[in-house]
Formats: sequence, structure tokens, C-alpha cells
Amino acid sequence: MSDSLDDVKKRILGRVTLAQLIGETVSLETRSGRPVGLCPFHNEKSPSFNLYDDHFYCFGCKKNGDAIDFVRETQGLGFVDALRYLAGKYGIEVPELDASRSRDGRRRQDVSLFKMMAEAQEFYVAALQTPHGKPALDYLLGRGFTPEHIAACGFGMTPAEGFGLVRHLRAKGYREDDMADCSLATASARDGRSFDFLRTRLTLPIADQQGRIIGFGGRTLDGAHPKYLNSRDSKLFDKSRTLFGFDKARSRMRERGRAILVEGYMDTLQLWQAGLPEVVACMGTAFTEHQLKLLRHATGQLILLFDGDTAGQKATLAAVNIALTVPEVHVRAVSLSAGEDPDSFVRKFGLEALEAELDKAVDLLDFAVGERLKSTPSLAIPSVVSNEFVPWLAHVSDRLQRSYLIGRIANLTGIPASHIESQLHGSTKAAPRRQGAAAKSSAEESQAEAAKAQLAPWPPLDLTGFDLFGHLYHAQPGELNTKTVMEVVRQDFDLGGEHFALLGEFCAALERGEAPSAQPDHAWSLSLDPEGAALLARLHAATPAFTCQNRKGSVAQVIGYVRQRRVKQTISRLKTEMSRAAVDPSRRSEVNDILKTIHELTRPPAAVALD
Ligand code: UTP
Ligand code: MN
Repeated sequence: MSDSLDDVKKRILGRVTLAQLIGETVSLETRSGRPVGLCPFHNEKSPSFNLYDDHFYCFGCKKNGDAIDFVRETQGLGFVDALRYLAGKYGIEVPELDASRSRDGRRRQDVSLFKMMAEAQEFYVAALQTPHGKPALDYLLGRGFTPEHIAACGFGMTPAEGFGLVRHLRAKGYREDDMADCSLATASARDGRSFDFLRTRLTLPIADQQGRIIGFGGRTLDGAHPKYLNSRDSKLFDKSRTLFGFDKARSRMRERGRAILVEGYMDTLQLWQAGLPEVVACMGTAFTEHQLKLLRHATGQLILLFDGDTAGQKATLAAVNIALTVPEVHVRAVSLSAGEDPDSFVRKFGLEALEAELDKAVDLLDFAVGERLKSTPSLAIPSVVSNEFVPWLAHVSDRLQRSYLIGRIANLTGIPASHIESQLHGSTKAAPRRQGAAAKSSAEESQAEAAKAQLAPWPPLDLTGFDLFGHLYHAQPGELNTKTVMEVVRQDFDLGGEHFALLGEFCAALERGEAPSAQPDHAWSLSLDPEGAALLARLHAATPAFTCQNRKGSVAQVIGYVRQRRVKQTISRLKTEMSRAAVDPSRRSEVNDILKTIHELTRPPAAVALD
């Protein structure tokens, strides 16, 4: 965002009282000192829309934002128009938004800053070709860069004197405070005089999407710290929204149908020279959502090629959260063997070997889960799942995608999907209270609440779970032997307590000779909290899906599917166990036993009998 808009935003947010603004359209009450109300962004019966000092957050639909976001969402306005709306409403003066005047002023200023950066770049490039630049040039040649590529990348060298750039730019009429803003100059603490920000360093230009220079990276040549000194964020440069090399790589990403993300400047430039023009770098910092969103427009395929060291592994794990929030891009990952970064790898082993590594890239989530499990003893797997994997899932708002990912994690870890679901549920939402519960002492009650929270009585049902409920709800008396069904369900489904009780009530109705779906609403609603009621409504709405000729056969199919899924999970867990045992001399003897068990499990399953 441009600086002056950012100012306007801050000024407006400073003047708006969120509760007052939102209170005009949402009726608010105070709970534990905080205004809450019914969420204006989704349908709900009890309030989960919470107001904090500077933002709102709905625990139901997860919508959140500040006053400007609220106006944008509820009024359907763009960012600038939302600013204008609020400014008008609260009588806030914002000359900047007075279209023509300000915009031109801003543009004129930005243009001159871009020109200043371009001047600096020219100056650095020229210095590289002087005798003073010789060591830097030799260094680059020594790293395998060709003279043509050195020129194409725009490598440069800082001048001999520590104030050479400042003097040069001053002579051209640029202002020192602009130089300081753009990290070209620093003021001396002693006498306040300006000197160059980058000194005795090899320089690399950092460009924005349009190829305009917005900053520099400066690499030390003598081991001084830090290894790279980079421009600080400025009017032009926002590191978290910039990908190094993107201006040049973007069109090549389109052509080649993929993007490759590395950590470093040198990795990028070396891979370009080696013949991979679709590479960009996140410049060592954590990969951000903004950066991924930039890529989204160029390609839907991204491969993370981070260093094989622990920092690289950590960066890959951290990228999972980002990748999950931008599902349009399919992110895969591969790690190079320890000690190599893409630059050193391609120089040692060549492009073909690197392509072979890239071919091994696997889906980021699988990769991350796999990497994490590599260093996890099997007993600790459940806690890794709940502490590390479940929080990832909380970022995924799309239900279908979430249940798909849960299935994958279940497969990879051997932990039943329903357990992961209930944990996820427990981590994002407090357990609902059952209505009409008899009064209890507060100690008893809080204990009961805690127990419920652990059990997460209404974890989201997966598709098979929903199928099971559908068939029982829509069954006619006599279609099923309810005792057998409940017995099988008890063994094969991991249902929360409330789910199980509701199924029990369906069965009880069938036993009485009544169809559950023909019960008057209030028969169920007496005992159900809102979530249970919502499930019932969904079941009711799904009537066409559950009209069937052979109820018993359909239910047997659902149960058969669940059993098979469980067998598959067990097999994959055993396989992991087997590969661990195979490389552990003290466990070699187990391999055969595990293999035998797997073999037994792969036999065709017995038919599900419901008689
Ligand atoms: P690396 O340390 O992997 O750098 O940091 P590199 O690119 O391999 O450096 P060479 O090969 O030794 O020249 C990766 C990236 O992290 C940022 C830079 O963008 C670097 O390319 N970084 C690293 C810094 O900004 N400052 C530092 O001090 C170090
Ligand atoms: Mn390197």
C-alpha cells in the first residue's frame, strides 16, 4: 500500500470506535466485558461475533478484520471507497483522497524515488568495472557466473569511499532524506552527516513486479556481518510482498507452467544461468501469503526448493500454513541433501541432476508430515498430530478441503480421521452446552464441561458418518435390525457421545415402530442443542439421497467402507513401522511378522452382516 494511503488508513482507524460503527447494524450485548452479537456474515442463533478494541472476530465463521474491512464487507466497497465512506461519515479530513490533487502529487514523488534508485544501480554497476571493483568481479567469476550473466543480473559494487553514492546522488539533485528513506544513505550518529548505507559490498538490485528497482542486497566480500545487508522496508520496498527475481521470472513461469522458490539471491541467479528461468527467492525470510498470492497469477504450480539444512526444513514446515490459505496454488516441496543449497548443488551435479530432484517433489502437506514424522518416535505421533498438524487444519476454512486433508493426514499417520476431526473441533470451538441440563454445583459443572470439551461431542461428521446418520434417520421400522446396527457402529465408528446418543434415539424410535424422519420436530429438539438440531435439519433436507430399496445393503456398504478405510490406515502405519524396523538392526526380526500381518490384512474383507 502506498505510504499516504497507509497514513489515511491509520488516521481513520484512530477516529472510529468499532463498537459504535458496528452497533449501528448489529445489536450488541456485553459478555465478560466484551461486546458480542449475532454475526452479520453468517446465520446463527447464538452470538459468536466478538468485538475487540481494533478488530472483530467471529468464532463461528472466522471472519475478522478492522473497521475498514467491516465497511468493505457490509457495504461491498473497495478499499479506497471504504476509506472515503468512513471519512465522510465521521467528518474526517482526508485531502489525500481528494482524488486528482493528491494522486498526481504522490505519483510525482514516487517517480523521482524510482529514478533515484535507478541512478544508484547505474552507479554501482559502473563501479564493478573499475579497478576498485575487480575483487568483486573476480569473486563472481569464481562462483561460476559468466560475464554476460553478471551484466544481466545487474551485479554492482559499492564505491571506494563510504559516502561515494551520497555524493553522486546529491550532485544529481536528490534529497538526503529520500536517500535515507530508501536505505541508500544513513546519518552519522556523531555529526549527523550522511554516508552510504552499503559500504564495501557486492550489490544486487531488488526490483518490483514491473522491474523498477526498489532496494538492494549487499553481500560482504570480507566476511563482515551480516552476510547480506538489505534495504529496509521503505515507501518503495515491502520485503514481505516482494519476491526476488519475480519481474524477470514471471513470464517464464507462465511458459514453463511452474514456479520454483528458493531461499537465496545467489540460488536464484545461479539457477537462472543454469537454465531454470522460473526461479524466484523469498530472500531468506519466512515465505508469506502475499508472496504466494503474487505467484498465483503466474502459475498454479509451485515447488519449494529450500536448503537441506535445518533452517531450510523449518522454512518448509512454516510454508504449510501459507500454502493452505492459498489453495489455488498447488505447492510441492523437495529438500536437497544436507549441506547443499540449490546454487552449490547445480554447480556440483548439473542441471539434469537438479531436475531429477525436482521430479521428486511431493505435495507440501505430505512432505511436511513426512519430514516431521521422520524425527518422531511412533509413540509421540498422536501428540505431534494434535500439536502441529491440527493447527494447520484450523487454517482451512473450506469444509470439503478440510475433510480431504484430514483423510490424508490420517493415512500418513495411521491416526483415525475421526480422532483428528474431533481434535480439530476441540481446538477451534468450545463444546456446546446441552440445553435443559439439570442444575449442578459449579464445580461439578465445570468438571463436566471439561470432560465434554475433551470428548468434543459433535465433531464434524465425515461423509460416511453422515451417510450412516442419513440411513438411520430415513429408515422405516423393520428395515434394519437396530441392535446389530448399534453393535457394529459401536465397534467401527468413532462417534462422539452426542452423536451416539442421537443414533440411539433413532433406533429407539424404529423399535417403537416409528420412522425417525416422521417424528414431529419437537420430539428431537427437546433433547438437542443447536448443533444437534442443525445436523437434524441437514438430515431432513437430504431426504432424496436416502430413499433406497435395500436399506440393509446400503448400511452394510457404509460400514464396509469404514472398515476398509481403517484396515488401510493400519496397513500404512505398519508399513512405516516396517521400514523403520528394516533399518534398525535390533528390530530386523520384526520385519517378517509385520509383513505377515500386512498380508493378512490385505485379504478381501468378510461381508458385513447386519442380521
Ligand atoms: P543464505 O545464507 O542461504 O544465503 O541466505 P545464500 O544466498 O546461500 O548466500 P551465499 O551463497 O553465501 O552468497 C539466504 C538468503 O537469506 C537472506 C538473503 O536474501 C540470502 O540470499 N539473508 C541471508 C539476508 O538477508 N541476510 C543475511 O545475513 C543472510
Ligand atoms: Mn548459498
